[in-house]
Amino acid sequence: MPMTTSSPAPAATTNIDSMLKEKRVFKPTAKFSKEARIGTLKKYKKMHRASLRNPDKFWGKLAEDLSWFKPWKKVCVWKPPFAEWFVGGKLNASYNCLDRHLTGPLRNKAAIIWEGEPGEVVTLTYLQLHREVCLLANVLKKHGVKSGDRVMIYLPMIPEAVTAMLACARIGAPHSVVFSGFSAEALKERTNDCGAKIIITSDGGYRRGSALAVKANVDKALDGCPKVKSVLVVQRTKMETPMTPGRDFWLHEEAQTVNAVCEPAVLDSEHPLFILYTSGSTGKPKGILHTTAGYLLGCHTTTKYYFDLRPEDVYFCTADVGWITGHSYVAYGVLSNGGTSLIYEGAPNFPEPDRFWRLIDKHKVNIFYTAPTAIRSFIKWGDDWLAPHDLSSLRLLGSVGEPINPEAWIWFYEKIGGKRCPIVDTWWQTETGAHMIAPMPGATPMKPGSATLPFFGVDAAVVDDRGREVGPNVGGKLVIKRPWPSMLRSIYGDATRYRKTYWSEIPGVYFAGDGARRDKDGYFWIQGRIDDVLNVAGHRLGTSEVESALASHPDIAEAAVVGRPDEMKGQAVVAFVTLKNGVTASPALKESIRAHVGKEIGPIAKPDDVRFAEGLPKTRSGKIMRRLLKEVAASPNGIIHGDTTTLEDLNVLAKLKETGE
Ligand code: WTA
Repeated sequence: MPMTTSSPAPAATTNIDSMLKEKRVFKPTAKFSKEARIGTLKKYKKMHRASLRNPDKFWGKLAEDLSWFKPWKKVCVWKPPFAEWFVGGKLNASYNCLDRHLTGPLRNKAAIIWEGEPGEVVTLTYLQLHREVCLLANVLKKHGVKSGDRVMIYLPMIPEAVTAMLACARIGAPHSVVFSGFSAEALKERTNDCGAKIIITSDGGYRRGSALAVKANVDKALDGCPKVKSVLVVQRTKMETPMTPGRDFWLHEEAQTVNAVCEPAVLDSEHPLFILYTSGSTGKPKGILHTTAGYLLGCHTTTKYYFDLRPEDVYFCTADVGWITGHSYVAYGVLSNGGTSLIYEGAPNFPEPDRFWRLIDKHKVNIFYTAPTAIRSFIKWGDDWLAPHDLSSLRLLGSVGEPINPEAWIWFYEKIGGKRCPIVDTWWQTETGAHMIAPMPGATPMKPGSATLPFFGVDAAVVDDRGREVGPNVGGKLVIKRPWPSMLRSIYGDATRYRKTYWSEIPGVYFAGDGARRDKDGYFWIQGRIDDVLNVAGHRLGTSEVESALASHPDIAEAAVVGRPDEMKGQAVVAFVTLKNGVTASPALKESIRAHVGKEIGPIAKPDDVRFAEGLPKTRSGKIMRRLLKEVAASPNGIIHGDTTTLEDLNVLAKLKETGE
């Protein structure tokens, strides 16, 4: 739909105008479909319809895949906005991830293959991991941790991060993992919010070739955490680490003092499994609370169907355990299915930018799950890094974290997947616990940039401000119209905020905070966070569409757009772009970029301002922080007042300020 600045504002100004013209469709290969669990679109649609028609029956059937100590009485009790799932049932998540695999052929199979950044490899079979988990669970008990007590986990990507989560789950102590790159301040705030008495950490970890201290941050945080009585320390780097007697304990020494038998606690379905903090753009971080049965079922089933995981697969998810992706798809979902999870400790570009390709080649990875931000870095670093490596073991690719721009999708599909691997673009959130919208790899024709269709039991829609469903290709708010098993149960300690944040924007439905449109095939196209939507001359533009158009320019590696106040148009479009290696910035390039967006989307979206940047400000999990860019755009040489605590690299911001002319 070509538009000009003079066209009238749309009648319903709350809708988001949709302008992306992506038309390509890619079908899964016949071979993949034939071998997949769900091999046709018809079968997926049939199952999806059945899941919505009779959710209790549908989920009840799927839940038989988990191991229960006692069966549930009722599948779902829904007292909006609070849900309980599998009421009356008893189970244990660590039992489901470990013990039940020990009686058959999985017993001596790799549960975790871990590679440290310096290059050493450690493999833990299910039997070995079970032992480690039992030892750590007994150490926790020795330190007075009881069912219901919260345990902080502040660890780099080492096997103990997974062991620690499962040990907590084993004794019914909800864990709260904090990304080990977060500051002492962030750790303190989260520790106090959930009232934990114990922290599991490590002396340090390896990143970009050096050993970085981790426990030092715990020491700083503990100045302000009066409730914490013990710190258990994993020895990773053997770097010098001050220990406070009576409070700090080496885990390997403590493990010598306990035995390796620890029966899993028999827990209610709704027993809290973990609290994971997620920071919005404003306010203090929200402690997202997940409980045992529903969450585990969500991870288990989506891993099975969306990743089509098989026992013989090596599965590699690049997310840190500090994010929900690391919880659901490094640990719980993979292990409950008896899969093999490859975990890598360090940076993707250490010692060189081909580390992931090396890992895939060396460990013969079959399934590779990463983020668009990483893919755009690979593109920027150049294809030469791929050449020496054999990636033919791959059979499925996944993407998560942001809308994947079509250019990055195509590159991933062709260069990494060799045109034979489906790309499962998974839309979901910390709050949803598990994948919500994504293509079934053997069934759904893929459209680059679209997360496609909803998972079973997920009743997703795009609505206007009053909650009315909008028509095809009209942008609006993405909502989920009924509860699902892996949904968050609350914000820890703040049920009022839970209700207000997720269930009051449009009464009765879950509002995810994202803008989206559905095309005529019912496919969902996520347009970015609603808070980031641009409003140019009465048109509301989703950031992801303009950014996708920018990234399809041959010289651009990555782009972010924000609005800057403009007297004439309401907002002017400011684009921050990073260029591919070897390309030089010039006024002519600026013009070519503006013209390119005009051609791809229409004159309305043409950036008023193009700024070349060395890097974009991102959160540690790789999401672009547009709110900081907005400040930079509005005051080129001004001071940033916004919260920068989750920013990955402060230098980026300093350099960006210099881009203003
Ligand atoms: C965004 C990460 C488009 C979205 C699992 C969501 C995506 C937020 C996708 C949640 C995707 C995640 N396509 N957008 N495939 N995946 N998002 O809580 O804005 O870290 O609301 O969970 O990331 O981020 P979170």
